Amino acid sequence: MHYAAANLLPLLLTLLFATTQARLHLNNKRATTLSEPIRGVNLGGWLVTEQWITPSVYDSSSANDEWHLCNELGKEKCAERLDGHWSSFYTRRDLQDIRAAGLNAIRIPIGYWAVDLEDYEPYVSGQYPYLIRAIQWASSLGLSVLIDLHGAPGSQNGQDNSGLIGPVDFTSNTTNTERSLNVLRNLTAEFSQGMYNGTVIGIELLNEPRLNSVNFTMPDLQDFYAEGASTIQNATVDTAVNVTIHDAFWGPNYWVNYNPSNAGASHPASDLLLDTHQYYAFEPLNNLSHSQILDSVCNISQLLKRPGSGIPSTFVGEWSLETGAPPRAWSSSQDQGDDQNRRTWFRLLAEAQMVAYTPDGVGQASVGWYFWAWKTEYDIDTWSYRRGLSDGWIPSDASNTSTYAFPVLENRCVDTTFNYTAPRHPGRSGGGRPGRSGGRRVSASWVLLGICLTLAQLL
Ligand SMILES: *[C@@H]1O[C@H](CO)[C@@H](O)[C@H](O)[C@H]1NC(C)=O
Ligand SMILES: *[C@@H]1O[C@H](CO)[C@@H](O)[C@H](O)[C@H]1NC(C)=O
Ligand SMILES: *[C@@H]1O[C@H](CO)[C@@H](O)[C@H](O)[C@H]1NC(C)=O
Ligand SMILES: *[C@@H]1O[C@H](CO)[C@@H](O)[C@H](O)[C@H]1NC(C)=O
Ligand SMILES: *[C@@H]1O[C@H](CO)[C@@H](O)[C@H](O)[C@H]1NC(C)=O
Ligand SMILES: *[C@@H]1O[C@H](CO)[C@@H](O)[C@H](O)[C@H]1NC(C)=O
Ligand SMILES: *[C@@H]1O[C@H](CO)[C@@H](O)[C@H](O)[C@H]1NC(C)=O
Ligand SMILES: *[C@@H]1O[C@H](CO)[C@@H](O)[C@H](O)[C@H]1NC(C)=O
Ligand SMILES: *[C@@H]1O[C@H](CO)[C@@H](O)[C@H](O)[C@H]1NC(C)=O
Ligand SMILES: *[C@@H]1O[C@H](CO)[C@@H](O)[C@H](O)[C@H]1NC(C)=O
Repeated sequence: MHYAAANLLPLLLTLLFATTQARLHLNNKRATTLSEPIRGVNLGGWLVTEQWITPSVYDSSSANDEWHLCNELGKEKCAERLDGHWSSFYTRRDLQDIRAAGLNAIRIPIGYWAVDLEDYEPYVSGQYPYLIRAIQWASSLGLSVLIDLHGAPGSQNGQDNSGLIGPVDFTSNTTNTERSLNVLRNLTAEFSQGMYNGTVIGIELLNEPRLNSVNFTMPDLQDFYAEGASTIQNATVDTAVNVTIHDAFWGPNYWVNYNPSNAGASHPASDLLLDTHQYYAFEPLNNLSHSQILDSVCNISQLLKRPGSGIPSTFVGEWSLETGAPPRAWSSSQDQGDDQNRRTWFRLLAEAQMVAYTPDGVGQASVGWYFWAWKTEYDIDTWSYRRGLSDGWIPSDASNTSTYAFPVLENRCVDTTFNYTAPRHPGRSGGGRPGRSGGRRVSASWVLLGICLTLAQLL
C-alpha cells in the first residue's frame, strides 16, 4: 500500500474523502480512524518548559525545572515570564510551517498544573487558553493533535520534563493519582466536544513513567491505566479520543493484547494507542555504534510492521537524531551541523527512522511518529526538526517519499549502503535522489492543499 500520491489530484480526492469520512464519524462516540500515517512533531518545551530547550526562560536562575524556577521567582514574576514564553514560543506561523513540511500531526505535552494547582505548589497556570488556541489553529490547518500528560503530581519520573526533578512520588499518595485523573477528565470533557471537530485524536495518560520494583510497579501503573481509560471513556462528550498509554520503556511487545479494562483480553482494546520512545541519546542505547543504531531502528520497524502481532496500534511518540549523550545544551555545544560528514549521517539516521516508524501496509501495529521537537531556542542540530529542514538533512516534504534520498529495501528499511553524500554546504534540500527536485512545486501544492482542506471543512 502506498501513501504517497503520484500526483496532486488523487491526493486531493483522498483528502476530501477522508475529511468527509471523519465528519461522518463525529456523531457517534467512536474515535475517528486515522486516514493517513501520523507524521508529526512534539511542541516540546512549550507548555511544560525545559531549560535545555528554552534557556532564556531560565535566565539568571539556578533552577533547572519549572517547579524550582517558579519557586525562585515567586508566582507573580513566574506567571509574567511564562506567559511571555507561552504566547511567543509557538504561534500559528509555527503550525503553518509544520504543515508545509508535509507533517500532519502535533503532540502537545502539558503539566497537571495547567488544570489543577494547589496554593502550596509554586507552579503557575495560564497555559490552558494557549492549548485551546493551538488546537483551533491545528484544526484549521489540518493537523491532528495528541495531548500528553507530561507532568503528574509527585512526578512520575523525577526528571525535568515532568516539571520537578527528584524522587518519583507519583504513587506516594492517592491524591496524586486522583488529581491526575481529574486532569484527564477535564481534557477529555473539553476536547471531545464537537466544536473541536475531532482534532484531538488521543489523550496520553502519563508520559514516561519510571517504574521500580518497590513502590511504582507495573501493576501499579496498570491500575492507573485502567482508571485513566475509564475516566476518558466516561468523560467523552461528542467525539471519542483514543486512550493513549506510554510503554513505560518495556517495549511494544510487552503490551500484546493489552486492554486496560480487561486483563485477560485476546486482542488489544479498540481505541487504544501505545506510545514508545526510541532514543539513542540515553542509556542503555547511548553507546551503540552507528551501524548498531541502524540495525536497531530496522528491528523496531519489523516489529511494528508485522501484521497480526497483537501489539496495539503504536506510534513512536519521541525520537531525535541525538546519539551518545543526553541533551546538554542551552548553548548548542554539541552542534557541529556544518560538518559535511555529520550532515550525511543525519540524513541517513533521519530517513531510516522516518521510514521505520511509518506504516506501509494494512494490519500493522505501526501508526506513525512524532519527532522531538519541532524546534529549540538554539535549533540544536539533533533536536530541531526545523533545523534539519533548513540545513537539508530532513526531507523537505515528509509526506512525499520522492523527496527522500535513500531507497527502501524489501525488508522495509532504508538501504544504509546507498552512496549518499550531503551537499558541501548546509541548505534546504528540495531533495530526493539525483535527478529529482521540487521544493517550489511542493510548497505550491501545499498552498493548494490548504485551500482545498478549507473548502472541505466548509462543505
Ligand atoms: C484509534 O485507535 C485505533 C486502534 O486502537 C486505530 O485503529 C485508530 O486509527 C485510532 N484513531 C485515531 C484517530 O488515532
Ligand atoms: C470546526 O468546524 C466549524 C465548521 O467548519 C468551524 O466553524 C469551527 O471553527 C471549527 N472548529 C475549530 C476548533 O477549528
Ligand atoms: C519510592 O522509593 C524511592 C527510593 O526509595 C523514593 O525516592 C521515592 O520517594 C518512593 N516513591 C514513592 C511513591 O513512595
Ligand atoms: C497526600 O497529599 C495531600 C496534599 O496533596 C496531603 O494533605 C495528605 O496529607 C497526603 N496524604 C498522605 C497519606 O501523605
Ligand atoms: C478545564 O480546566 C480549564 C482550566 O482550569 C478550565 O478553563 C476549563 O473550563 C475546564 N474544562 C472543563 C470541560 O472542565
Ligand atoms: C465510569 O462509569 C462507569 C459506569 O457508570 C462506572 O462504573 C465507573 O466507575 C466510571 N469510571 C470512572 C473512573 O469514573
Ligand atoms: C553499552 O553499555 C552497557 C552498559 O550500560 C554495556 O552493558 C554494553 O556492553 C555496552 N555496549 C557497547 C557496545 O559498548
Ligand atoms: C536486531 O534483531 C536481531 C534479530 O532479532 C538481533 O540479533 C540483533 O541483536 C538486533 N539488533 C539490535 C541492535 O537490536
Ligand atoms: C560515492 O559517490 C561519490 C560521488 O558522488 C564518489 O566519489 C564515490 O566514489 C562513491 N563511493 C562509492 C563507494 O561508490
Ligand atoms: C513529490 O516530490 C517530488 C520530488 O520533489 C515532486 O516532483 C512531486 O511533485 C511531489 N509530489 C507531490 C504530490 O507534492
